[in-house]
Amino acid sequence: MTSSPRPARIAILGSTGSIGRQALEVVRALPDRLEVVALAAGSDRETVLAQAQDLGVEVVGIGEADAVGLAGWEQADVVLNAIVGAAGLRASVAALEAGKVLALANKESLVAGGDVCARAAAEGGGTIVPVDSEHAALAQALSGVDRAAVGRIIITASGGPFRARADLSDVTPQEALAHPTWSMGPKITVDSATLMNKGLEVIEAHHLFDLAYDQIDVVVHPQSVVHGIVELVDGTMLMQAAPTDMRIPIQAALTYPHRLRADWGSFDPVALGRLEFDPVDRRRFPALDLAYDAGRRGGSFPAALNAANEVAVRGFLDGRLGFPDIWRVVGTVLDAHEGTPVLDVDEVMQVDAWARSQALRAIDELEVPV
Ligand SMILES: NC(=O)c1ccc[n+]([C@@H]2O[C@H](COP(=O)([O-])OP(=O)(O)OC[C@H]3O[C@@H](n4cnc5c(N)ncnc54)[C@H](OP(=O)(O)O)[C@@H]3O)[C@@H](O)[C@H]2O)c1
Repeated sequence: MTSSPRPARIAILGSTGSIGRQALEVVRALPDRLEVVALAAGSDRETVLAQAQDLGVEVVGIGEADAVGLAGWEQADVVLNAIVGAAGLRASVAALEAGKVLALANKESLVAGGDVCARAAAEGGGTIVPVDSEHAALAQALSGVDRAAVGRIIITASGGPFRARADLSDVTPQEALAHPTWSMGPKITVDSATLMNKGLEVIEAHHLFDLAYDQIDVVVHPQSVVHGIVELVDGTMLMQAAPTDMRIPIQAALTYPHRLRADWGSFDPVALGRLEFDPVDRRRFPALDLAYDAGRRGGSFPAALNAANEVAVRGFLDGRLGFPDIWRVVGTVLDAHEGTPVLDVDEVMQVDAWARSQALRAIDELEVPV
């Protein structure tokens, strides 16, 4: 007789957000395989306590310090980092230093502190399993492929709500928050509209797959069905496709390395009909090249890019900035940045704080009194 494995014990950081809530749906669907042992949120006590009561979870954290403690907690096997922004970096590092499987939705960890995360994983034995749908797709396509056989990877982008809109100067927050294919938290939804999200994903892919920036391309694919493409040196293209549902990559990361039956939908290729692929209009969406440039310059540049973007997105959502001002603020901060090596989390967070203050100053200068 074989006994079934005990459920994986999971800490969910950012449980009250879009990814966090979908992760709880995955856990509820697989009660024999997944057990939540801890939940953490930023400030929404009411929701996180209701989630804990519902699932019988006894350990709950609020704020970054609690999330960091839970990330390294010995009772958890898998840490899902679904915190938004650079506030998630210390938790990612703590999980990797403690040897956990880090199911990583918080792409900002790798953008701001990619090298720091790599060192934490090497020293602590942790493993990053990407939750971002494109990186989950690419990791699957790359699995078992000799690295010397990889020519380049292609990250797909829906193109966001303004793919076909010529004039972006009068975009409102409400319009930017209406994503055509994915339902997500507000920050990533705005990042998807500016295409900064793809830029962050390019830097994320550079760190996850150890590829040069020249080997990472982005194409617009409005249907969001093909999530990533790996081109081998002989011309073979390995494409990963899945329904547009984040519960699929979340489940794959939480059950890693196993694949379990799921009921999150599937698609009929015939009913789907056409799949389109277009180039990115880099003139209308300069955020993508800002990110490539920061990534290529390396060191502290990606952390500065990320922090300036977080502040600019907040400024846009608060009505202080126009939509194109988001990339103008980021560009202004990067122009003023001198760049340093970043060797540990504290150094990353110093750059993060500097870039935030510069971005706030740039917003003050741009803001037109009404
Ligand atoms: N949503 C998606 O479909 C999707 C897809 C791919 C990747 N991602 C990535 O996943 C991450 C989360 O995205 P989301 O859309 O789920 O965001 P979201 O809906 O805004 O949720 C963010 C979560 O982070 C928590 N949080 C914020 N600041 C915190 C802090 N200082 N300490 C601890 N927790 C904190 C929030 O708690 P409160 O509710 O208490 O504020 C909330 O639970 C982002 O990095 C995003 O880029 C998301």
